[in-house]
Amino acid sequence: MAQRTFSIVKPDAVRKGYTGAILAEIDKAGFQIVSLKKQHISVAQAQGFYAVHKERPFFNDLCAFMASGPLVLMVLEKDNAILDLRKLMGATNPANAEEGTIRKKFAGSIQENAIHGSDAEETAAFEIGYWFAGYELL
Ligand code: CMP
Repeated sequence: MAQRTFSIVKPDAVRKGYTGAILAEIDKAGFQIVSLKKQHISVAQAQGFYAVHKERPFFNDLCAFMASGPLVLMVLEKDNAILDLRKLMGATNPANAEEGTIRKKFAGSIQENAIHGSDAEETAAFEIGYWFAGYELL
């Protein structure tokens, strides 16, 4: 059954001009784009989004990075979207990412890792609702 997930082309990838190439990978893998917007978010918005990581040592750096330039927010849909996007992205640390994955091709470091994807159904529901209003998801 069709499932929705949430994804971000992160500021490092947008800055390096990889947005189109990453969207092409997502398209080739069979995802439909339900909604998409380019935005320059604030540190406070990033802190709210990554609140589950607020005790982690990398939290402040991560939020500053996410607010360092424009990013692309997306809601994607396909059968098994959450797991399939995680597979397409590759490991969080690009050094451990498999050949052919988005992070292997486009990520620079464990923090500046090109793309985000929800890790579970509950997270996807929170993340979609955090960035998109209902009328943007019709
Ligand atoms: P993401 O999938 O968006 O979820 C949390 C983010 O935190 C992750 O991608 C990375 O950008 C970042 N992150 C995770 N682990 C580390 C780490 N050890 N050091 C720095 N950043 C990290």
